[in-house]
Amino acid sequence: MKRFVLAVLTASLGGMVPLLASADDAASIVRGGRLYDHWSRELKERPPAGLHPIFTARRNDMLAADSWRCKECHGWDYRGNHGIAGIRGRQDDTPAAIVAVLKDATHRYGELMGEQDLHDLANFVSHGQVDMQSVIAAARRSPAPAAAHEKYFVTICGGCHGPDGRKLREIAPLGETARQRPHEVLHVIFNGHPDRNMPALRALGAEFSARRLTCLQTLPGENLSASIVHGGRLYDDWQAEAGARRQSLPHPAYPASAHFAGDVALTWRCKECHGWDYRGKDGAYGGGRHATGTKGIRGVAGAAPARIAAILRDATHRFDAVLKERDLHDLANFVSLGQVDMDAAIDRASGRARGDAGRGAPYFGTICAACHGSQGQRIITTQPLGRVARANPWESLHKMMNGHPDEKMPALRELDLQLLIDVLTHLQGLPESRSLDADRR
Ligand code: HEC
Ligand code: HEC
Ligand code: HEC
Ligand code: HEC
Repeated sequence: MKRFVLAVLTASLGGMVPLLASADDAASIVRGGRLYDHWSRELKERPPAGLHPIFTARRNDMLAADSWRCKECHGWDYRGNHGIAGIRGRQDDTPAAIVAVLKDATHRYGELMGEQDLHDLANFVSHGQVDMQSVIAAARRSPAPAAAHEKYFVTICGGCHGPDGRKLREIAPLGETARQRPHEVLHVIFNGHPDRNMPALRALGAEFSARRLTCLQTLPGENLSASIVHGGRLYDDWQAEAGARRQSLPHPAYPASAHFAGDVALTWRCKECHGWDYRGKDGAYGGGRHATGTKGIRGVAGAAPARIAAILRDATHRFDAVLKERDLHDLANFVSLGQVDMDAAIDRASGRARGDAGRGAPYFGTICAACHGSQGQRIITTQPLGRVARANPWESLHKMMNGHPDEKMPALRELDLQLLIDVLTHLQGLPESRSLDADRR
């Protein structure tokens, strides 16, 4: 009976998905699909070190570890990638012949995986490939109604991915991925995700999966402003903001001779090397106790976020070891789009904000005083705002724009910058000491 239902479902797509012969085969095929996606993760093993020898030159468009994944060379649509041939021609070939390919001199997977793994991969290549283009075209012709999204996505996927597909911080919002990389999403829906408890939905047929894809494509993408302010708070103190494990050794790029070499947590903060004014050695932090001699990040303002994310993974930074993918992405968005020209807002030599205190006062009274008190002294875990704003106006402006890591302070980036500078000017006129005034009701 079940076979019959499957046959009807798949027949409506012109037999683009091979029928599942038996439960054993079905399990083998989806496992093969997950190995195809990321065999080392599925097997909980380390991929070989370095780039796959097929690639002779260093590549900026792929991580060395990824060069060993089948999908990297043969594509999510199985039609080939990086100029390498696809595997569509081996559909229906005997698993033994495919295992032989996987053991050949190009692949050498016989040294990296067991016989059962190779067998599952071969089963996938032989019986598990889907004609992605026709599936996606068919789904486009009859998109699923919105109610179906509620019914299936929220119940099957929403528990892990959140009702809008944006909950997991190790990956991009699902809606974004479904629009940009539909073949990958279909492969994952069919076969599940390597070494994660995600269900494989192959047995429900191509039409079902294709409709899930069209629903996914309607989910919201990234909220750029939210990404930038989150990046700004990570720049300030990513260990607090991301709730990350505190580091036990100083950042390797922090100069041993600089003043705070003994303060491990501080040496890992972006602001400590690159400055609150983002100018590094060429700005307000070129001298004094916080000087490290590091260059600033102003030069990469406006650069492609992907290029900046690559810098954060480089040998100097290695932030990919401690931060999630989306955090790196948010940091990159901040560096690219979130920096302001601090010199235009604050006179570097005197530290005076270039605003109008009178214009800023009423905004301070309405937006800030509820938490900070009318004289900026109420929050006792921090210095009075009058002192902070004079001693470090760059930090104050950064925090007004992006919020305070791990605290409820609102990020006011979307307000007019001049208004924020006016409020900062007002702060600089508030009392520097915490007097016993009516402020601390
Ligand atoms: C670093 C790149 C690379 C990776 C990774 C890779 N392959 Fe290949 N594969 C190739 C190349 C190159 C060929 C030969 C294609 C040609 O003849 O042009 C090939 C051929 C094949 C073929 C035969 C295609 C045909 O039509 O004859 C199959 C099947 C295959 N690979 C499966 C896999 C599987 C499964 C994996 C993962 C376990 C994998 N490959 C990983 C590069 C790669
Ligand atoms: C048990 C939890 C769980 C369920 C249920 C689940 N997922 Fe996932 N999914 C994950 C995790 C965890 C990842 C991230 C894996 C990683 O770290 O790369 C992921 C990754 C993905 C990816 C890869 C995205 C990327 O950018 O790499 C896609 C696509 C995906 N899931 C789709 C779905 C769909 C569609 C459903 C429902 C049919 C679903 N998932 C159900 C946990 C789940
Ligand atoms: C311990 C010091 C240190 C910390 C902490 C640090 N960096 Fe850097 N960063 C450097 C050094 C040194 C360079 C210059 C490397 C070079 O010239 O190759 C650099 C370069 C950069 C650049 C490239 C600038 C350009 O114009 O080429 C960017 C962007 C950057 N860092 C962002 C960040 C971000 C974001 C963080 C926090 C997540 C961070 N850095 C944390 C030391 C640090
Ligand atoms: C919802 C409450 C809330 C509001 C509204 C708020 N803040 Fe804050 N602010 C905080 C908290 C909490 C902190 C972190 C205190 C700490 O370090 O423990 C903070 C920190 C700061 C700091 C950094 C102080 C330091 O020690 O570096 C500045 C500057 C600041 N706020 C300015 C403002 C300004 C200006 C406004 C209005 C535009 C504002 N805040 C509105 C709660 C708020």
